[in-house]
Amino acid sequence: MKVVHAAPEDARAVAEIHVEAWRAAYRFIVPTDYLNSLSIERREDMWGECIAAGEPELLVAKKAGVVQGWISFGKCRDIGSHNSEAEVWAIYVSPTAWSTGAGRLLWLRAKELMLEQDFKSCSLWVFPQNERAIKFYHSAGFSHDGAAPKNFELGGAQLQEVRFVSQFSC
Ligand SMILES: CC(C)(COP(=O)(O)OP(=O)(O)OC[C@H]1O[C@@H](n2cnc3c(N)ncnc32)[C@H](O)[C@@H]1OP(=O)(O)O)[C@@H](O)C(=O)NCCC(=O)NCCS
Repeated sequence: MKVVHAAPEDARAVAEIHVEAWRAAYRFIVPTDYLNSLSIERREDMWGECIAAGEPELLVAKKAGVVQGWISFGKCRDIGSHNSEAEVWAIYVSPTAWSTGAGRLLWLRAKELMLEQDFKSCSLWVFPQNERAIKFYHSAGFSHDGAAPKNFELGGAQLQEVRFVSQFSC
């Protein structure tokens, strides 16, 4: 498996994994109607534009040329955040490839790039019910930093995300 920056031709696979992973990971969190309404085509367009713009940075893990998963990251988007703070905007691995090491490889390469760009820490937001992801983040050195949770509505449900942070200097 190798991790590289996404190329324009990866946009379709990135979009497919985005939708498949949402449907698999969030089936007990996000309303079914909302998950069923997700459009691969719309996400393909969105990711095509991001790849062309180079923001957020998008890395893909490929095995025999087939995209297994991806990570997008950049400067932290939280209000009041400092320029030295990075954020994993999203990380999604194809459900058929979960627990094969793709997520770990993606995170390690993204962290290398963050360090090269002089970021000192990285944060991300996760549903507190997303046990698989939280276990993965703990293994990767993240912990819940106690920031106020984000509350929002999605598909008619009231949802909450909590913030996890990894400090690079410690
Ligand atoms: C969370 C997610 C990105 C993790 O990616 P992943 O590729 O499954 O993660 P990895 O395989 O690198 O690691 C997961 C576990 O598999 C284990 N693993 C790693 N390589 C392995 C291998 N070759 N064989 C078996 N197990 C392996 C790891 O040790 C890890 O276990 P641990 O947490 O007990 O240490 C992925 O599960 C996913 O896409 N989930 C749905 C979307 C999601 O929730 N995204 C996050 C939103 S905030």
